[in-house]
Amino acid sequence: MEKLIIANWKMSPQNLVQAQELFEGFGNAAKNLEGIEVVICPPFVYLAPFGNSVSRRESVLQLGAQDVFWENPPMGGPFTGEISIAMLKNLGVKYVLVGHSERRYILGEPDEFVNKKIKACLADGLIPVLLIGERAGDKKEEIIIHQLSQDLRDLNQEEISKIIFVYEPVWAISTGPGAKPDTPENALESVKFIMKFIFENWKLKIENCLYGGSVNEKNVADFLKYPEIKGAVVGGASLRKEEFIQMIRLIS
Ligand code: PGA
Repeated sequence: MEKLIIANWKMSPQNLVQAQELFEGFGNAAKNLEGIEVVICPPFVYLAPFGNSVSRRESVLQLGAQDVFWENPPMGGPFTGEISIAMLKNLGVKYVLVGHSERRYILGEPDEFVNKKIKACLADGLIPVLLIGERAGDKKEEIIIHQLSQDLRDLNQEEISKIIFVYEPVWAISTGPGAKPDTPENALESVKFIMKFIFENWKLKIENCLYGGSVNEKNVADFLKYPEIKGAVVGGASLRKEEFIQMIRLIS
């Protein structure tokens, strides 16, 4: 698997001009690179303009969505505020973030929803990027086991092999009070724990594990020096144009 760097823009930037400037900058920076895929996950409203440009571009740049709804009836449906898989696919979206801690803990999204979203993505050819990790004070291994067991419920080996797993401890996310990145050693240990749990339960050796939480230009290489950590999910630093471009270059 190539290295994967996923930009999670969350609810930023506030207008299309700013969004386009970042996107164009990243597209140009990624143009001739190899061994890396750069996935931009903007707010839904920017996916349409970006989708056109991704399909025109020969580039390692790909689009991801920050969320999706699992129901996808042919004629649409009574789901106010939701976005379907078909809508995302029509815009050239390839990846979908699922189970981000801000959705789990701020919006109260239960594991049952995460599981449904993963299944819907897999059924329709979108790649789910499953984020898991503990809050400060939680028992890390307990949380990882709980989230994996619930979020992967009823999935088979082949389906699980298509998921991208991200260990993202909630306490390491840059916007949290007193946030600091995990140590690379600890992130590696957690990624290995995820791999082991999946092997024990599904007899599957997964290779697609990333780390997220305060990843920036200064520390990205420390996390990715381990072959087990195949990439990073980047929030805050992916909105700082020059810094993120530098990270793309470093990784490739
Ligand atoms: P951060 O966010 O890089 O700003 O810590 C990462 C995330 O929340 O996915």
